[in-house]
Amino acid sequence: LDDLVVLGIETSCDDTAAAVVSGNGEILSQVVSSQADLLLRFGGVAPKMAEEAHILVIDQVVQQALDNSKLTGNDLSAVAVTIGPGLSLCLRVGVSKARRVAGRFNLPIVGVHHMEAHALVARLIERDLQFPFLALLISGGHNLLILARDVGHYVQLGTTIDDAIGEAYDKIARWLGLDLSKGGGPALEELACEGDSYFLKFKVPMRQHKDCNFSYAGLKTQVRLAIESTNICMESSPIATASSSDRKSRANIAASFQRTAVLHLEERCERAIEWALAMEPSIKCLVVSGGVASNQYVRSRLNYVAEKNGLCLVCPPPCLCTDNGVMVAWTGIEHFLLGRFDLPPPANDPEDFV
Ligand code: KG4
Ligand code: ZN
Repeated sequence: LDDLVVLGIETSCDDTAAAVVSGNGEILSQVVSSQADLLLRFGGVAPKMAEEAHILVIDQVVQQALDNSKLTGNDLSAVAVTIGPGLSLCLRVGVSKARRVAGRFNLPIVGVHHMEAHALVARLIERDLQFPFLALLISGGHNLLILARDVGHYVQLGTTIDDAIGEAYDKIARWLGLDLSKGGGPALEELACEGDSYFLKFKVPMRQHKDCNFSYAGLKTQVRLAIESTNICMESSPIATASSSDRKSRANIAASFQRTAVLHLEERCERAIEWALAMEPSIKCLVVSGGVASNQYVRSRLNYVAEKNGLCLVCPPPCLCTDNGVMVAWTGIEHFLLGRFDLPPPANDPEDFV
């Protein structure tokens, strides 16, 4: 395992990331180049623009990951790359780069599912984490509750029927006029600390549905109406210029939203634990991962839910919860060890454009 070294490449959304990880779980390097400034200017991820931004930095990010690991392409055992889900224009940039590196150094390629990578990185963090386990995956595009039985064997217990929680954080942060330069989620989390989370009583989604699915569209609408009823156009007046009472009312909305949004996660998790234990009584851990799992309030509430149900919580450190190359490299290793990889592509394939 010490000899196994995998390069992981991730370009599914707005971050260009690469990392080198060894078979025994040592992170040899980790590089992330963020497009936060683009998001800021255009109010979301515009696929064509994101593609161009990936193309601009991908060579540099991969080279930096190799340099920081003090290795060259010749030392690698395989290249792992995210092949979906994500924006296809963006995914293509990563896949093309992976094929170029693999072709040049005659390396096998492992195609990685982005959400599986969010889940399996927990096994790099917690080397004793055995299958089966329950995973709550919360990101900008997906909300999933899965029972992980083995590498590549997952039972989906719940998914979102409309928006993912991260999307709701991002949209509401924008409506509240927050500084989005470090991302909407972190900005909203920070402001919520100043607010009264019981100030507004938002309705918890889906209570009448006794399943493990999620919905955030209705909660988003409730929050939008609450913002409109303040008669302040928060979106067009940055929080930095807000009066102290205006700031307080924005913080109350943020805190009330966050409490309800996370309560929804807690309730669905409680049920999922029940369902999962009925199927697999040996489950001992709840994994919580994906960008939103870097939120401290989310972490502490789900820790409480896990403990209450006799499970341990495994939540990767924040930099491994948000999109990164380490999770892709590690998932590549998990699959590679089971013989699940593609043969090296031809060198200098004209299809590979970056
Ligand atoms: O997993 P991820 O990095 O990318 C996707 O796969 O989508 O997740 C990104 C999402 C964004 O919506 C971002 O606002 C959210 O995770 N996020 C947070 C926090 N940090 C990132 N949401 C709430 N609180 C945070 N601290
Ligand atoms: Zn993600």
